[in-house]
Amino acid sequence: MSNDAPRLPVVGHPPAPAPAPLDLTEVELEDGIRRLKAERNAVILAHYYQESEIQDLADFVGDSLQLSQAAAKTQADVIAFCGVHFMAETAKILNPTKIVVVPDLEAGCSLADGCPAPVFARWLEGYPGHTVISYINCSAEVKALSDVICTSSNAVKIVKALGDQKIVFAPDRYLGAFVQKQSGRDDLVLWQGTCIVHESFSERRLLELMAKHPDAEVIAHPECPESILRHAAHVASTSGLITYAKDSPKQTFIVATEAGILHKMAAEAPGKTLIPAPPADDSCACNLCPHMRRNTLEKLYLCLRDLAPQIDVPEPIRVRALAPIQRMLEMSV
Ligand code: 13P
Ligand code: SF4
Repeated sequence: MSNDAPRLPVVGHPPAPAPAPLDLTEVELEDGIRRLKAERNAVILAHYYQESEIQDLADFVGDSLQLSQAAAKTQADVIAFCGVHFMAETAKILNPTKIVVVPDLEAGCSLADGCPAPVFARWLEGYPGHTVISYINCSAEVKALSDVICTSSNAVKIVKALGDQKIVFAPDRYLGAFVQKQSGRDDLVLWQGTCIVHESFSERRLLELMAKHPDAEVIAHPECPESILRHAAHVASTSGLITYAKDSPKQTFIVATEAGILHKMAAEAPGKTLIPAPPADDSCACNLCPHMRRNTLEKLYLCLRDLAPQIDVPEPIRVRALAPIQRMLEMSV
């Protein structure tokens, strides 16, 4: 692959002065968002880790793959993306002529932040002839250095589809380890990134919770370390976990992923008992993603009103990042 291609910086629009705070009630904000959405011909896409009131206002709520698929086929003029930066950036890469706005430009991701493109490019030089699979939780620049993108819902399928090609997998080492196990490919070269939320779950506290709820099934996201995954009856993407809780005959689940998922899971699996997996330290809200939580109703209102902040990806990077995303979408049908 063209890892020797020159790197170009990825930029957002220059930071605008912060808008004056609004003096609106929650109901006024929600009505205002609906009105602005219609006026702008906008679609609101939201991830399962968003605050429940944002999920309830969204046109579509999904996991990373579903959100990319929704972004790829939307007819709206404006995409208001309620998630984190790499998700909105993916929507922009797929829709260069549309306006993509986010409630908060600072909503990042520890996996994306932990894999800076210049360092990644140098690291890849040590693995010539390898196919580079990057988890979608990475920057546009890292995508531009990759051969194919994957998400937690298709990573195993994509690795298996590559046969016996030599593979570099980045940036999540726990998802990488899970994929190795599921695909039987123990030779994947893994970048050593982690998600700050999923690595905060404590096996000891999970065991205590399991002892208290012997009938509960543990279900977990593959960004969790193996010490958590080994207790899970089911490991899947956010949408996969929701479907499992809904369809399983079991009544009680200990859910090892970001706690925002419980909102949709409770709606899809009414009457079931959903217990969030415990982080090591009760004094932190470590099972809530601090990046996802930057988005608020007020910021969503403002981004639709002001059409700012916008996501922008320089064209040479966008074109190079698009190819591995499209490859993923083609391999996911
Ligand atoms: P999903 O694609 O499973 O929704 O995961 C996204 C994510 O950021 C998990 O932390
Ligand atoms: Fe990134 Fe983890 Fe937050 Fe998902 S939960 S956006 S992987 S920091």
